Amino acid sequence: MKTPNFLLPAAAAGILALTLSACAGGGGTTGGGGGSGDAEQGLDGRGPITYVQGKDNSNVVRPLIEKWNADHPNEKVTFKEQTDQADQQHDDLVQHFQAKDAGYDVVDVDVVWTAEFAAKGWLQPLKDKMAIDTSAMLKPTVESGTYKGTLYAAPQTSDGGMLYYRKDLVPTAPKTWDEMMSMCSIAKENNIGCYAGQFSKYEGLTVNASEAINSFGGSVLDKDGKPSLNTDEAKTGLENLAKAYADGNIPKEAITYKEEESRQAFQDGKLLFLRNWPYVYNLATTEGSSKVKDVLGLAALPGVDGPGASSLGGHNLAVSVYSKNKATALDFLKFMTSEETEKFYATQGSLAPVLTSLYEDEELVAKLPYLPVLKTSIENAVPRPVTPFYPAVTKAIQDNAYPAIKGEKSVEDALADMQKSIESAGAGS
Ligand code: GLC
Repeated sequence: MKTPNFLLPAAAAGILALTLSACAGGGGTTGGGGGSGDAEQGLDGRGPITYVQGKDNSNVVRPLIEKWNADHPNEKVTFKEQTDQADQQHDDLVQHFQAKDAGYDVVDVDVVWTAEFAAKGWLQPLKDKMAIDTSAMLKPTVESGTYKGTLYAAPQTSDGGMLYYRKDLVPTAPKTWDEMMSMCSIAKENNIGCYAGQFSKYEGLTVNASEAINSFGGSVLDKDGKPSLNTDEAKTGLENLAKAYADGNIPKEAITYKEEESRQAFQDGKLLFLRNWPYVYNLATTEGSSKVKDVLGLAALPGVDGPGASSLGGHNLAVSVYSKNKATALDFLKFMTSEETEKFYATQGSLAPVLTSLYEDEELVAKLPYLPVLKTSIENAVPRPVTPFYPAVTKAIQDNAYPAIKGEKSVEDALADMQKSIESAGAGS
């Protein structure tokens, strides 16, 4: 069977898309929703716009918008803040795009939504008049905003999973999963949970299940973009989570954790190890209520015999094809991804910058000791499948990883069903 192109991992898809666009003369809005007319209108429009993003946990967006608004009285930005859940953010955007809402001008796009939104024709291609310079940005972040050779979303902040740990209880971070599990006796002695990630049934579970699989040498897709879950490596990876849940090394309540619940548990001193994104560093070291302020350690995710593989996360900024004020939107987008703003994301919110130079900025590294770990995490991160049908793919992973971790379905059956559902998600394309 021929591999459906849409299932190629980002890097391979990038090469293929470049080839395609070289033949076809570039990308463009070809999908059902937008239509080329929408991408042609509003290009010179200036005026008030709305920026839509998930909950501003790190409190970086408000001060930036205040600054922008003070300098642009006729092009003010209104911040529409969504919930802190990736799936709800996604569905809200889909509903507004489907309604061709001109009121959602600039939207924050999770790296895994680019292909779907671009294929539907909802995102303004960032080329010609709308082009932005991405040459100084980390390559994986640019790829995450690109679909079929065209940039649709400007890299804003990247995300790589890291292991937070309690330095007071574990002097040296574990390098492997087995080592980490062997340290769970320390958690027991201290009457706290050992390890948590994000295991609630939502996008975060796809991230965590993929990391478990990738870190043990498996992969969701093979190098040709075909689902490849029927391997011993994938089985060991997912089994690790199921075993840890069964024996209590992952506390029972972690099955309801998303990013914020797991951060809270760690900050409250209830966990020895936490897998989470970089934003946790700032909050856990500065929030008054944090019990781990002075004892927080950071390391790479543990793998089979060394560092594991993070799923590539992150958020990019796109302009809706339905916006009437695209000239303002583009300026705002440049402002939100400028070097100064990228520095602010890092210093204020411990978010991962997309500019390569900032990871080598001595002053910044001195202030933010996690930057080298984070850079390695991002550079080695594995993108989730790049496909317009991503909602079906992530559902297949969640629907099966969840009961497998809970012990309600065997890991073997879960992986076989995942494999089948991902295959059929691409049927007919
Ligand atoms: C973070 C990541 C994003 C991921 C989400 C899952 O926001 O940046 O890529 O999809 O977490 O909850």
